[in-house]
Amino acid sequence: MKLQIQRQDGRTDTYEVPEYEGMTVLDALMWIREHHDPSLAFRFACRCANACKECIAVVDGKRQYTCTVAAVDEVEVAPLPNQPLLHDLAVDH
Ligand code: FES
Repeated sequence: MKLQIQRQDGRTDTYEVPEYEGMTVLDALMWIREHHDPSLAFRFACRCANACKECIAVVDGKRQYTCTVAAVDEVEVAPLPNQPLLHDLAVDH
């Protein structure tokens, strides 16, 4: 799958991520940070319980929890608007 991520300086980085069944956008972000760019910033805590609400971002134009959105085909991720931006996808809730 292909993940397009809006970064801190407004540029968009595109990554090819090996896809597997059940992979979420959060899983893809973690894969990118582990294999390509350790500087990629995003927030999460519970990882898949949809309980912490830390992983919220704009995914394909909608506010969604990245740990609940399937990572298939092509996905665009951006930080929440109208929130203080800390770095990349991480905002100050
Ligand atoms: S990581 Fe907790 S709701 Fe997504």
